[in-house]
Amino acid sequence: MIDFSSFFSRLNTHKLARFQAHFEREIPVHFDEKRFSELATWLDAHANLPKLEAELDCSSSVSVNFKQTPTDEQKTMLDQAFRSLIPWRKGPFQIGDLYIDTEWRSDWKWQRVLPHLSPLKGRKILDVGCGSGYHVWRMLGEGANWVLGIDPTPRFVVQFELLKHFAPDSKADVIPLTLEQMPRPMDFFDTVFSMGVLYHRSSPIDHLKELRACLRPGGELVLETLVVDGPEGYSLMPQERYAQMRNVWFLPSVATLEQWLKRCGFDDIRCVDLNQTSLEEQRTTEWMPSHSLKEFLDANNTDLTVEGLPAPKRAVITAKRRAAKGS
Ligand SMILES: C[S@@+](CC[C@H](N)C(=O)[O-])C[C@H]1O[C@@H](n2cnc3c(N)ncnc32)[C@H](O)[C@@H]1O
Repeated sequence: MIDFSSFFSRLNTHKLARFQAHFEREIPVHFDEKRFSELATWLDAHANLPKLEAELDCSSSVSVNFKQTPTDEQKTMLDQAFRSLIPWRKGPFQIGDLYIDTEWRSDWKWQRVLPHLSPLKGRKILDVGCGSGYHVWRMLGEGANWVLGIDPTPRFVVQFELLKHFAPDSKADVIPLTLEQMPRPMDFFDTVFSMGVLYHRSSPIDHLKELRACLRPGGELVLETLVVDGPEGYSLMPQERYAQMRNVWFLPSVATLEQWLKRCGFDDIRCVDLNQTSLEEQRTTEWMPSHSLKEFLDANNTDLTVEGLPAPKRAVITAKRRAAKGS
């Protein structure tokens, strides 16, 4: 079982004990085997991981290096445990000889984002919608003081725990909550990431306000989201699906996004990267065998989705929480 005890002890370390009762109430509700039928199987996989001494290298990749070569039996146990959590979307991960070739090259996104950030060394970081925690590990690799990831999908929380099994003392935690389920205001984190989440929110302005409430005054927001070309004030709302996804609400222009951020209490707003997702960055693999970007784009024109909308283009925006409270 995952008891989240390292998260709870870190609440004390960081003088966040006033939120303890909130998390004690919320976490079990959102990580409940009665609600999520496959959770018990995933937790079994986690419990059956072999006990092997290892070091986790998060500096230029996320790699578990074993101190002794695993036996054939241990290799089989590893393979089975990781396979039982398929699909693996965000990665890749190297676990000894086992390479988890995920749907996304999340390392490519990290290469686009990292050069534009205030140094992460010593920072307390929140990664909203962290998925399997690939970027949580990379933030830790930059010397963060603590990285907390939140994600409502139990499969992704267990995927993170499979890695953490080999580095239990890492200053990284993932809990199964949405941003909306976090206590408010925390006024705490030095850097807050929201990557790939805003377009899934039906109320993007509330999402920005909720991100702001997690940051300390002057703290840095790193927002990565889908955008479209267009003037200030323009945003696209798909009729129904976007690139086959049902849960996409608003694709703003960069100027609109900047305007939203300004009105939600952010300053020093910079668009630092724009990138159209390539078929090499998001694709079907052995570890995510279903349809991927190729099937979501128009077969005759990869600048359009199958619905005839602009193909996925992502912006990275950094901004600072305005210092004055309530402004
Ligand atoms: C497209 S993935 C992005 C993963 C990762 N941040 C990245 O950029 O590669 C979106 C993630 O956000 C999570 N998510 C969806 N709604 C959320 C919410 N309201 N609060 C926090 N996470 C959410 C999903 O479970 C999913 O793992």
